[in-house]
Amino acid sequence: MSLRGVVIVALVVAVAAWIIAASVRAEPIGQVSAKWAQSGHADRTSEAFTHWDADEPPIIPPQCAACHSLNGHLDVLGADGTAPGSVDAPHAVGSVVSCVACHNGPAARLEAVAFPSGAEVPVLDDEGQCLMCHQGLAATGDVEEAIAGRDLDEVDPELAFINVHYAVAAATQAGAEAQGAYQYPDRTYAGRYLHFSGLRTCAQCHDPHSLRLTPKQCSPCHLNVVDRADFRDIRTSTVDWDGDGATDEGIAAEIQTFHDAVYAGLQAYAREVIGTPIAYAPGSFPYWVVDTNGDGEAQPEERGPANIYRSWTPRALRVAYNYHFVHEDDGAYAHNPLYTLQFLYDSLADLGERVAVPIDALTRP
Ligand code: HEC
Ligand code: HEC
Ligand code: HEC
Ligand code: HEC
Ligand code: HEC
Repeated sequence: MSLRGVVIVALVVAVAAWIIAASVRAEPIGQVSAKWAQSGHADRTSEAFTHWDADEPPIIPPQCAACHSLNGHLDVLGADGTAPGSVDAPHAVGSVVSCVACHNGPAARLEAVAFPSGAEVPVLDDEGQCLMCHQGLAATGDVEEAIAGRDLDEVDPELAFINVHYAVAAATQAGAEAQGAYQYPDRTYAGRYLHFSGLRTCAQCHDPHSLRLTPKQCSPCHLNVVDRADFRDIRTSTVDWDGDGATDEGIAAEIQTFHDAVYAGLQAYAREVIGTPIAYAPGSFPYWVVDTNGDGEAQPEERGPANIYRSWTPRALRVAYNYHFVHEDDGAYAHNPLYTLQFLYDSLADLGERVAVPIDALTRP
């Protein structure tokens, strides 16, 4: 055989070997599609994809379309031929996060993603898409701007609650790199949570199509994990952050104690300093209402726009922002546990300047 023949045969063999290896490694496309089809990204009935259906005309405004419309997402990426970084037009309703939202040229080339704070967070591996849509809509600077120059404990009817938005996992994970939570000026905060090599990016822990986690992936290192319910019991840090004497409870439980203490503290502050009791009403609009009967909870008849909480002080506003932030990230304990403990601790300490809170029992990471 001529040298040329040898080279050609070698090339053919190499390509065949690569195709075989790839087909063994990669999942069949049908399986990928089936997983995607049962995920939230494919759920056409979800509020996230139908919120604008009844508008007249039914279109998704540019400031919402980047994450709530396929074409809006391709628009912000620049994959539709327009400039990347902005959505140039409103987009039609009726799409979901389909394959091409993540599988396109500009998406594959993303090296950094801009967050609401303006920070450019470097993309590790192939998670750029996830960072773009799961970053929330607000950051420390937005809260700072709202409260700047005002007396911390003076009620100001111009103040309105700032909602970081939903499923803000990427903002939690980036920590101080993105300043997604309200960070107090004189404090330092944990940066991006790097967890462990190989399980560091969104798509390494979450299957990028089903969006689920595989408990078996965790058990080699976190021996307690058998099924999904066990994630919340994962614990590696040995400090008893919440001072309850238990260091074997999950890190999620430590965060829960901090979160509950912030809520109780905010309610005490609203009662004693503001003089108008407050209650949190997750899952309905608005999120914060007047606790008219003072029972500490948002009862069905207390929910709704007519009873919206309007007596914000700057201190209450920044604490409520952080409280809600944690509510909007179910996986905060896995996305960035120490950052979460830090800003909750600081919120509690903030309230502690005016009302009694159990801050002495807690440790700030
Ligand atoms: C174009 C925007 C967009 C991109 C890109 C995106 N998401 Fe989502 N994601 C959403 C929306 C919107 C929802 C809510 C869907 C719903 O309510 O049905 C969601 C829901 C989720 C959920 C909740 C579970 C579920 O089934 O609803 C997880 C987990 C998630 N995304 C992870 C990811 C990961 C990991 C990536 C990157 C591989 C990613 N997302 C990329 C917009 C996006
Ligand atoms: C940076 C990406 C991003 C932008 C921009 C964005 N959203 Fe979202 N939004 C999300 C994600 C992710 C979810 C999914 C949360 C979930 O249900 O898990 C969501 C959920 C929602 C929901 C459903 C909430 C629920 O209760 O299920 C509504 C309504 C919504 N967004 C409205 C808006 C509006 C209005 C705008 C424009 C002002 C907007 N969003 C802009 C990412 C974004
Ligand atoms: C939210 C973003 C997102 C969406 C939507 C998405 N993918 Fe993927 N896909 C990814 C990421 C990230 C990877 C890389 C995973 C990895 O490196 O293991 C991937 C990998 C793949 C692979 C290689 C499979 C493997 O196991 O190596 C195939 C094939 C694929 N996607 C097809 C699809 C199809 C078909 C759809 C629509 C039904 C789709 N993807 C929707 C993000 C997405
Ligand atoms: C170390 C593994 C890990 C990494 C990395 C990770 N997550 Fe998670 N994520 C979790 C765990 C654990 C939960 C909680 C799941 C549960 O309780 O079932 C979660 C929950 C979520 C949820 C809420 C799911 C729901 O059903 O409401 C979203 C959305 C999400 N993650 C998105 C992301 C995004 C986006 C990234 C990248 C910025 C990311 N995650 C990175 C482990 C991880
Ligand atoms: C190869 C080993 C390894 C695997 C596999 C692994 N982790 Fe971890 N995990 C660690 C290490 C090491 C730490 C401590 C990291 C640190 O705090 O800097 C940790 C810490 C954590 C923490 C925080 C615990 C605390 O007390 O602060 C959570 C939550 C977590 N992992 C979730 C997961 C989930 C969910 C999975 C499966 C998707 C997983 N891990 C798989 C090694 C692993």
